[in-house]
Amino acid sequence: MKIAIAIIIVMFLPMFTNFVSAAPAQTLPKGYLSWKKSERKVVTDKNSLFYGIHYIYADKKAQSGYLAGNRFAEGSRIVIEFFNIKENPAVDGPKNMIVMMKKDKRQAATGGWLFAGFGADGKPSGLDPVTTCFGCHQKDAAQRDFVISTKKDFKNF
Ligand code: HEC
Repeated sequence: MKIAIAIIIVMFLPMFTNFVSAAPAQTLPKGYLSWKKSERKVVTDKNSLFYGIHYIYADKKAQSGYLAGNRFAEGSRIVIEFFNIKENPAVDGPKNMIVMMKKDKRQAATGGWLFAGFGADGKPSGLDPVTTCFGCHQKDAAQRDFVISTKKDFKNF
């Protein structure tokens, strides 16, 4: 009996440690403002989660992924900053939200991407990635490695 229990523990231990190491690191990468930046994107539909003005930033690996037709290597990182629309929509209002995706094969429930949401101050907003984030990405971009934007969203690619 004791042996049986020991065997069960040994069998499940790797799962448990894997689970612990898969706990998402919810921090924004430093220096993302110097990554490749998308065109300014304005969404005027107030029902959209992306209502407002936003810019997408892609690190080196993510740039290669976009160029390969949305096939991203492990570690690729994409960040979006969102801003309010002011009365004069040509000018960005205050920042209101930041989101990030990082390619991380441990995140099996969300297509091998870590999804994370942050406030304008860069602090994690604690959104649940499975229920809050993955649905749209799965629906709109299952054939594009769950990344909805493409290289067309960036200038000079
Ligand atoms: C209502 C649907 C929807 C939900 C929910 C959603 N997204 Fe997105 N996401 C989009 C769309 C549409 C784009 C493409 C934006 C563009 O092309 O400018 C996008 C783009 C992104 C990108 C840039 C890479 C890409 O796929 O184009 C990141 C990073 C991102 N979302 C993270 C998140 C995170 C984190 C969450 C959860 C907090 C989330 N998203 C929830 C629709 C959604």
